[in-house]
Amino acid sequence: MHNDQPIGIFDSGIGGTSIWKEIHHLLPNEKTIYLADSKNAPYGQKSKEEIIALSIKNTELLLKMNCKLIVVACNTATTNAIRELREKYDVPFIGIEPAIKPAATHSKTQIIGILATQGTLNSELFNKTTEKYQDTKIIEQVGHGLVQLIENGDINSPEMTQLLTSYLAPMIEANIDYLVLGCSHYPYLIPQIKKILPEHIHIIDSGEAVAKQTQKILQEKIGFSSAEKTEPIFYTNTDSKVLSKILENKYTVEKIDF
Ligand code: SIN
Repeated sequence: MHNDQPIGIFDSGIGGTSIWKEIHHLLPNEKTIYLADSKNAPYGQKSKEEIIALSIKNTELLLKMNCKLIVVACNTATTNAIRELREKYDVPFIGIEPAIKPAATHSKTQIIGILATQGTLNSELFNKTTEKYQDTKIIEQVGHGLVQLIENGDINSPEMTQLLTSYLAPMIEANIDYLVLGCSHYPYLIPQIKKILPEHIHIIDSGEAVAKQTQKILQEKIGFSSAEKTEPIFYTNTDSKVLSKILENKYTVEKIDF
């Protein structure tokens, strides 16, 4: 069974490209359309209603572009809006949730840390997930300001190092052995985070798991593309330079209104 329609991916900005990279790596023949809603970033401090409305807006555009499946490459949008999206539309949605399960399962100290947005940490979906791991102490930290710095292209700034150091210090003190990155923007901070964390602390993000889940849904329900190779399409609703830069200027990025 083949299906040559594209896979749609959206995020509050450029961070979801960390998920797109994993999908493109695993499924290089699939046509992908990425929407960076940077005009409305960050989603993490918005109300649930606002996050749902933005997620619907992004979904409607991807459906107009004939997408066969939608990846919500944003933890905040997944934890706050995926249920509503699944109820409203027939197309399958794949979301990204913080990888609490592998961290809690493998932790030897039974103390893990999670860095995520306020919207993710406050969500019902996240709190239901953590309830399952009563034997593990979970140190939660809101990454105030991190998404905005990444969206501004200030990944390697002294301000970023300062914020990360202050957010990670209490976790190191508490003896975590796993750090879960609960926001699709944060994998771009792994080099800085590694400089701050002692070597024995593992860092986990959800990109690979999302790509595998996408592959599984295509295989079981929708069908893979029959194309040999396709060029990914990137749209942003702000200046395209930061998105182009994070993609190492390898792809065309178009600015459109949405
Ligand atoms: C944000 O827009 O605040 C971050 C997106 C995410 O949670 O992945």
